[in-house]
Amino acid sequence: MENKNDKIGIDEMAVFCKRKGFVYPNSEIYGGMAGFFDYGPLGVEVKNNLKNEWWRFHVTSREDIVGIDGSIITHPKVWEASGHVGSFADLMLTCSKCRKKIRADIFLEDTLNVHADGIKAEEVNTLVKENKLRCPKCNSEFDETSNFNLMFSTTVGPKGDDSSTAYLRPETAQLMFVDFKLVQENARLKLPFGIAQIGRAFRNEISPRNFLFRCREFEQMEIEYFIHPEKANECPYLDEVKDYRLNVYSAEMQEKKVETKEMSISEALKKGIIKTAWHGYWLATEHKWFVDLGANPEKFRIRQHIAVEKSHYALDTWDLEYEFPFGWKELQGMANRTDFDLSQHIKHSKQDLSIFDEESKKKIVPYVVAEPSQGVDRAFLVFMFDAYEYDKERGNVVLKFHPILAPYKVAVLPLVNKLNENARKVYDKLKMKFPCFFDRSGSIGRRYARMDEIGTPYCITIDFDTEKDGSVTIRDRDSTKQIRAKTDNLNSTIRKLINREIKFEEAGNPVKNEE
Ligand code: GAP
Repeated sequence: MENKNDKIGIDEMAVFCKRKGFVYPNSEIYGGMAGFFDYGPLGVEVKNNLKNEWWRFHVTSREDIVGIDGSIITHPKVWEASGHVGSFADLMLTCSKCRKKIRADIFLEDTLNVHADGIKAEEVNTLVKENKLRCPKCNSEFDETSNFNLMFSTTVGPKGDDSSTAYLRPETAQLMFVDFKLVQENARLKLPFGIAQIGRAFRNEISPRNFLFRCREFEQMEIEYFIHPEKANECPYLDEVKDYRLNVYSAEMQEKKVETKEMSISEALKKGIIKTAWHGYWLATEHKWFVDLGANPEKFRIRQHIAVEKSHYALDTWDLEYEFPFGWKELQGMANRTDFDLSQHIKHSKQDLSIFDEESKKKIVPYVVAEPSQGVDRAFLVFMFDAYEYDKERGNVVLKFHPILAPYKVAVLPLVNKLNENARKVYDKLKMKFPCFFDRSGSIGRRYARMDEIGTPYCITIDFDTEKDGSVTIRDRDSTKQIRAKTDNLNSTIRKLINREIKFEEAGNPVKNEE
């Protein structure tokens, strides 16, 4: 049943994504596998578009960041050095009778409506006892809470014993530290600089849920940004963002239980709310990336981690949060990791990963002052939610994607079957440049509606005048306005529209809208 509201919940989004071919539950014909998903024909296009756009914005359009593509399985010592073997764990509650296992913090948040991120084992046990909490499945008591390491392990080679145990990476980040020295030398990088990577990460989540929000296999787009340890406030790009405004929710505001406050980056820095210029720069830059691609700025805030939440490696962490239908949640983590990782790898590998600083003529171990770490699947959800609109007048869903993210940029629709041949000529030219859809079945209104529902920004109709005057009708998805444009320069017109170089009205002569 179609949801006819503007706002939809996460389960309805999962249903919509499956129905339209964006995302499927993994191995559904065998009953499914919790925490794993497959992107369908439309989903893979949107996901690739957003990854390409992330890479363009963060890597190829900048001089100070280069990329790598590291392997998923690495030497197990990488994860001992990083601290993941010892402490990458969530607290788990196990039922004493049916053995059901639940992630403790999420269970407490759901049942007691408390903030339980970073909660300690003793506190979990106390809260469970005090509130007489029981297993939601069989109503029996829980055992004492225990730690559950989230890394997936496997064995490498034919031995299959403990000595061959390896892990599927739980984050892409470590590869940037392990390859740090090679990359810095090969790319002849000088501080400050960053190394970026997009790739799969795996976490054996105790309670995967909320569709793509918390999965066991997902993708990350991460940057490790390295600076001189004494130059956390010397950010040459700060001017680009100093007036940029964000909704700020500091640790102090959370402790005092006051509302978020909108302020500029320079104000947050001046008041000491954001501690370093680099952190301010990256928070604004990451917010801007989402908003420039069509996300709704009202649904974002930056929230500082309170002391108990911080990861084992972090000095200060801010999350870029988004208001999902199930509440404000982390979209991107941005930790100040200092020299934790490089120092750990120096210690464990006994290799020199320091670099020579020309200015002080000394060897230094750089700091990672901010680590913009973004989940691809969470970003995908944001763009889906912000694009989704049920248009009551049209009687169908319209996915108002930024054209850059849309799976198809343009659809070619012959008005009647007789015009198929002419329409195919237009389609054949366009499809060499843009993902393009040819649709000749159903009424023109029905075809427009189908394109609205998958977010195609422009529909081109071929009619009886096309052959006579060499022009076509282009219809804009968001406004339903129509213009008449020449076929000769259609490729260039569509390119300019997709890149928002021209307004729709500038692309041709207005046509009376008969929808
Ligand atoms: N290198 C730092 C790091 O991995 P994180 O906060 O654990 O930090 C970064 O993860 C981002 O990865 C999160 O903000 C989120 O967008 C995404 N992410 C983490 N766990 C996820 C999961 N189970 N499912 C989907 N995305 C996840």
